Amino acid sequence: MLSTSSIRPSTSRRAATEAAQGSSDVYSKNGCVLVVGGTSGIGLRLAERYAERGADVIVTGRDEERCARVAAGVAGSCRGLALDLTEPDVVADRLRAVGPVRALVLAAIERDVNSIREYDLARATRLVTLKLVGYAEVVHALADRLDDRAAILVFGGLAMLRPYPGSTTVSTVNGGVVGLVHTLAVELAPVRVNGIHPGIVGDSPEWVGKGNVLDGVRERTLTGRLVSMDDVVDAAVFLLENAAMNGANLTVDGGWLLR
Ligand SMILES: NC(=O)c1ccc[n+]([C@@H]2O[C@H](COP(=O)([O-])OP(=O)(O)OC[C@H]3O[C@@H](n4cnc5c(N)ncnc54)[C@H](OP(=O)(O)O)[C@@H]3O)[C@@H](O)[C@H]2O)c1
Repeated sequence: MLSTSSIRPSTSRRAATEAAQGSSDVYSKNGCVLVVGGTSGIGLRLAERYAERGADVIVTGRDEERCARVAAGVAGSCRGLALDLTEPDVVADRLRAVGPVRALVLAAIERDVNSIREYDLARATRLVTLKLVGYAEVVHALADRLDDRAAILVFGGLAMLRPYPGSTTVSTVNGGVVGLVHTLAVELAPVRVNGIHPGIVGDSPEWVGKGNVLDGVRERTLTGRLVSMDDVVDAAVFLLENAAMNGANLTVDGGWLLR
């Protein structure tokens, strides 16, 4: 695994790289890194990475007090903002105080176990609203605060390609993320928009400690190891900062889908 120091380029090298790339410059104070769903798991790990590198970071979750507490625990410049994506009507208002955004990460999730034979309408509606309408409404609300160098990253997942019992809503919204990425990239150009679709992330709060399931996933993964939150964060940084990455939906699964 890369050490933190090995991934932090020197200031001059970074400046030269960014000049060559047209500069994504997420470290600058000209715009923040906003991680929607940044109070836990992969979103929080990504927020920590950017705060450590000197960016102004905002993390969101549903509860104001929890957001403030989590933000206070992040080393660097980080503040919390309460935002519930299952209530898209109030999203624009909640985001009014946010300034220019250089990197927008949409990572929020509420899990839903749902199948088509026992279809729980309320749960399905909640997740579809959160992940598709809620994500889109965040982008709509912030569109005037994204300049040409801004980048957006949308989290999906691989249940869209490898469903499991109860994954109907999750598979559906993950597939929707692919379409959302495509349409946002076209509508917001030259703002770059990419999707990231991790396999099961072994050390994420959702999976940690679920030994039996994880053993099976590891066995089926070509690399013989589980995807980690740091793996996903590395891929997320690549998508947010590489000036040529646009409209991509990147699978990060160690080759799990191929077996
Ligand atoms: N973990 C995996 O193995 C895995 C695999 C494939 C894809 N993914 C995707 O990766 C992303 C991050 O997953 P994760 O497991 O790291 O997440 P996580 O630890 O479960 O965190 C979920 C985040 O979403 C926020 N959230 C929950 N309900 C919300 C709502 N109604 N409105 C707004 N925010 C809400 C939570 O904030 P509060 O709890 O503070 O409200 C928290 O910040 C998700 O989009 C997920 O679908 C994860």
